[in-house]
Parts: sequence; C-alpha cells; structure tokens
Amino acid sequence: MASEKQRQELEALREQIAYHERAYRAGAPEIPDATFDDMFDRYAQLADELGVDTDARLDQTPGADKTEGFTQVQHRVPMLSLEKLTPNRRTSKGEPMPLGEQLTRWYDRRRKDLELADDAKLPLLVEPKIDGIGVSLIYKSGGLLRAVTRGDGRSGDDITRQVRRARAVPASLRGVTGTLEVRGELYWPSHAFAAYNNQLAAAGERRIINPRNGCAGLMKRKEPEGLERAGIRSFLYQVPWHEDVALPGRQSEILGWLAEAGASVYLDEIHVAEDAMSAFAYCEGYGVRREQLPYDIDGMVIKLDELRYYDALGGTGHHPHWAVAYKFPAERRSTTLLDIKVQVGKSGKLTPVAELAPVFVAGTTVSRASLHNFVELRRKDVRIGDTVYVEKAGEIIPQVVSVEESKRPDHAVVYQAPTRCPSCQTEAVSEEIFIYCPNPACPDQVRERLKHFASRGAMDIDGFGAALVDQVVELLGVRSPVDLFALTTEQLADLDRMGEKSAQNATEALERAKERGLSRVLIGMAIRHVGTTMAGDLAAHFGSAAALLDFADRYMAGDEEAIALVAPDKGNGAIDGMARKTADSIFSELHSGAVRAVLEGLHAAGVNTEAVIARTEAVEGVAGKTFVLTGTLPTLKRSQAGELIKAAGGKVTGSVSKKTDFVVAGAEAGSKLAKAEKLGVDILDEAALLTMLGA
Ligand code: IVH
Repeated sequence: MASEKQRQELEALREQIAYHERAYRAGAPEIPDATFDDMFDRYAQLADELGVDTDARLDQTPGADKTEGFTQVQHRVPMLSLEKLTPNRRTSKGEPMPLGEQLTRWYDRRRKDLELADDAKLPLLVEPKIDGIGVSLIYKSGGLLRAVTRGDGRSGDDITRQVRRARAVPASLRGVTGTLEVRGELYWPSHAFAAYNNQLAAAGERRIINPRNGCAGLMKRKEPEGLERAGIRSFLYQVPWHEDVALPGRQSEILGWLAEAGASVYLDEIHVAEDAMSAFAYCEGYGVRREQLPYDIDGMVIKLDELRYYDALGGTGHHPHWAVAYKFPAERRSTTLLDIKVQVGKSGKLTPVAELAPVFVAGTTVSRASLHNFVELRRKDVRIGDTVYVEKAGEIIPQVVSVEESKRPDHAVVYQAPTRCPSCQTEAVSEEIFIYCPNPACPDQVRERLKHFASRGAMDIDGFGAALVDQVVELLGVRSPVDLFALTTEQLADLDRMGEKSAQNATEALERAKERGLSRVLIGMAIRHVGTTMAGDLAAHFGSAAALLDFADRYMAGDEEAIALVAPDKGNGAIDGMARKTADSIFSELHSGAVRAVLEGLHAAGVNTEAVIARTEAVEGVAGKTFVLTGTLPTLKRSQAGELIKAAGGKVTGSVSKKTDFVVAGAEAGSKLAKAEKLGVDILDEAALLTMLGA
C-alpha cells in the first residue's frame, strides 16, 4: 500500500514537473528554481525507491542550466544530486519517520554495504549545504584551466571567463602540481548581494530577488566585464579526481588541504561526528548558527569522512551513496488572514482557501494558501482576521499551518462552513470530513472536470488549458467531454487569442486524443477513487468501456457473481480484493446515467474506449523474473531490451538486490555489475538475453 501511494505521488510529480518545465521553457516560470529542484529530487528519490528503470525516468535534470552560446564541456565524473532526509518519508505504519531515524537507517545501511560490524564506528563529516550554484574547476600545475557549471550533471557550460573575471575562485592553487578537478559552490555573500541591490535601486533598476538565481544569472553573462564588482565568492569542498597529486585520505583533511592551497573553505563550520546520532545533533543545533552566517545555506551535508569507502559505495544515477543531505525545516512566515473563499473541485468537493495579506515565503510572494478542509479549519480554529503561519513544506502549494492566538484581534470572525455551493447555490452535502456540491451541472464543476479531462495525465489534449476551456464553456456551450469532440476549427478560430492556426492545432490535438484508449478516458472522467493506477487496472481487467459498464450494472443490481469478484479475500488482482467500499463507490458512479452517457457519447464521437495494452506473451525463464539492465548493449537500446523483457512477462528494475534474478550487462557497466557479482546474481550479455527471449 505504501508503494501504491508512492506510485501515485511519482505520477503526480511527473505531471507537475512536466508542467513547470514547459512554463520554464516558455520563459514564464511559476515557481522558484529551488522548489523545482526539490520536486525533482523527490521524484528521483521515489523513482529510486520504486526501482524505476533509468530509461523510463524523466531526464536527469530538466530545466538544466545549459545556455545557448556557451561551450558545452563534458564532466569526467558526473555531477550528481544528494539524497535527502525528508519529512515526507513514512514508516511502514504510515507515520512520518523522524529525520534522526532516517539518518540512523542510512548509516546502518552504509555499514552493512561496507560489510562492517553492526557497531563499527564510521566517522561522518558534517558540512553546511551552501545554497549557490555548483561549479567544477580544473587546475593544472596549480593554475585554473577551466570552470564549468553543473548543467544536466553530465555536461555543463564553460564559464571560465566569467568566474575568472568575478574573482570568485582562486586563479591558482598554492603548491599544487599535477592535474585535478575541484568542485564547490559559487554563492553571493549576503552583504555583497545587498550592496549590489542598493546600487541597482540607486540607478532606478529592478532589484534582484534571490541571491542564488542572481548569482547564476551573473555567471551566464556573455560579457564578463564588471563582474568583479558583484562580489561573488565560492566554497570548494571536493576533489572528484586527480592525477599526480598526493591527497590526504579523509574529507575533513581534504578541506584542510584545499585551505592550505589558498581555496576558500568553510573549515570553521564543519564537524567530525563519530556516529549518526552525533552528526544529527550537530545538524539540529546548527539552525541557530545559520542565522548568523554571511551567506545562505539550506541544510547540511553529511558525508563519510573516509574517502577510501566512496568507490565501494557507488551510487544511483541521481546521488552517491556516501553522502546525504539534511534540510532545515521549511521556512514559515506569519501574515494576516483576510478572508476565506470556497473553491469547487472537479468532483464537487468544496475546499476552503485562505486569502492572505501578501507575504514572501521560500522564494515567492504568497497571497492564497490551502486550508485543506473544513474539519481541519475548525480544528485549527482559524478565524478571519487572525495572524496565521504559512509554510511551503516540501510542497509547491502554500498552506496555513497554524494560528497565533495571542494576536487574535477582537473583530476576528469564526468562519461558518458553507451550506450551499458558492457557484450554483445548490445545497451542499457532507460526506465524511468533506463537503460536496451534489449538482453535476454546477458551472465550476463542469469547468474543472473539462480541464482535468484535457490535462496531461488524462487525455492530454494539447492546447486545452484553463484559458481555452473557460472560453469553450462560456462562449460555445461546451458542458461535457463529448461536446469537446464536436468543436470545429471554425468555431475555435473565432475565440479570443486563437486564430486559424491555433484552432487548427486544437482540432488536430482532439483527433490525436481520440486514440489514447480506455485507461486515459477513465482517468479523465474524474470518477472518485479512479486515479491513474486504478484506471489502468480497470481497463486491463475489462478491456472495453462497454464491458465495464455492463459489469457496473450487474454489480449494482446485486448480481452475486459480480459481487463475488470483489470479495476481499479473493486475490490480488485489480478487481479481486478491491475494497468493497471503493467498489461500491466506483461502480455506482459508472452505473449512473451521467457517466454512462459520457462514455457512450465519447464512443459515438469516435473516441477509442477499448483498452490499449501492450500484449504480453509469457516466455518461460523470463516471465516472473526480475532483470536489471546496465551499460551499453551492442545492438539494443536499454529501453528496447526492457520492452522485450516486459513483453515476455519479466520485470525490469533500476537497482540490483538479492531479489534480482538477472543483470544484463553491456559495455562500461559500472557499480551495478560489481554489485551483481558480489551478490552472485546471474549476469547475461545481450546475446544471452536474446536467446532466452527466443528472439
Ligand atoms: S557534496 C553528489 N557538499 O548541493 C554531490 N554539495 O543538492 C556531492 N552543495 O550538487 C556534493 N554544499 O552543488 C556537497 N557541502 C556541500 C555542498 C554541496 C552545497 C550542492 C552541490 C550539489 C548540491 C546537491
């Protein structure tokens, strides 16, 4: 169940990331970069936990900082992200797992992977996590040869001229011979940032809001003249490779060595901890110190101090296994609650939304925030006029987390949950902790449902975003998904900001959407309890909308055979073992005239309401087995090999464990192959795999 939740979260993140990436590329980002990074890190972490195949993942670093006009340089060792201790992680009982426990588990795992005794001491080095931009520096015979941004982690932009001109890193390392790469973080110290902003203000120019983005912007200036006046600085902390250089064997000593060579290092801020609890205590205590630092940090990095373990531990494509990040609790700001508005969702759910006096939280100005539901609102005793605390804890949507009762003004008003829908005035109904508008024709619901139907995760109708949906509802009388497919290019061309070409594109997008198949149609119907996974399961089980509707009718009529199919102890299929309450809810909605009419209408409009499923044909020896693919195969792409395995009934995962049956290794296979050898997992090459597949 936990993993089901994780899968849903992964799906949701995938959509959000795709959305924000498009906004970013269109030059109109809606969230700060750091928030985007957090989303992506969470995505990668989940993908790791769920063993999502590398090829099936979103690209490593979307929205990466590669810029046109800069020379691309490949990193000799990829620049990865860090795994994070996160408040989102839950125990098997579904409770939030304390960060200290997460770190202890992480630590125990390292000891185990290194085959050390359970009580062996494994010293950790705790460093501040600078909120700047990562940089890779190559020094040869002591002199700076090149500076490159992180980019997508594999290659980045050459910013040597900018970094030199800004005097952000040492032009030479004292007493250092040979060739080496040094990594670190470029950042904008608070005082220099403020001074620069004052100058901008005096010149009547716009201030820079965020030092991290500001620093990135300056380093991407094509003309570096004047950069030295900005005061950008660096902290250097890592030597990923070196040739003909004698280096000490501990991370704490590397920092000392770098300082000796003249690099700027946060030596005063580090702590060598003898175990996980001690490292954690240092992190927790550091929050106070953080306020006094002349630069921004967003957490701490905990690394194994002994470098000799790094290679053995390796990592995923996203993060190394020798370090983990501790993030400070989310920024919390207080502001005044001006009003509470009610939003109507696609299923009629009424949600309270806080209207706030604008406040700057974690990178953006916030004037609306979620209040979750009316029960929660009551529980927190939030009143209009109150001073409330707002947070963006790991999430994108700001939320009201608590009330400062000591500041409650006399005129504060207790909010009464609505008894009618604010959009259509229909009497609202309560169900469990939620309140719903029961009127399916409610204008707000209609709009929200259509937006959902057209959205990426559902029918993916390009161009049908909020603005166009609002227009077709208001001006062209569209009420149901079926109406969408009756729209003509002429009708659309008459709308605001449309024109012939966009109208043409929109109708073509509608044509393409017709072929998405039953599971996407079901997602688009916004039936309660039918998310991506359930929709896929239903489509796979029933094969067509007609069969599904027929079953719903039988189920609702009390047909014993149909009901027996969802008996709780039946099995583990999608329908077998489905919770009875869930089944009641899903099939009663499917049985309702409204849903039936839409499904049948879609079918009549030429929408494919059959399941589109890749056929699998079990191949003995492959079916039911778990495969991991690594390295470059001679003829197949890894994704193609993966498809073949799946079509034969096998499973493909991303990481090697005792449960792995086969590792298919190509050229330059790395740590996965090593791990497979260590665990004694069978290793195949492409030819052996093809033989197994009977291809
Ligand atoms: S070690 C796998 N140490 O944080 C990368 N990184 O979120 C190992 N960062 O890409 C990096 N302070 O740009 C390390 N003391 C520190 C850091 C640090 C900031 C950045 C770095 C990295 C990012 C990962």
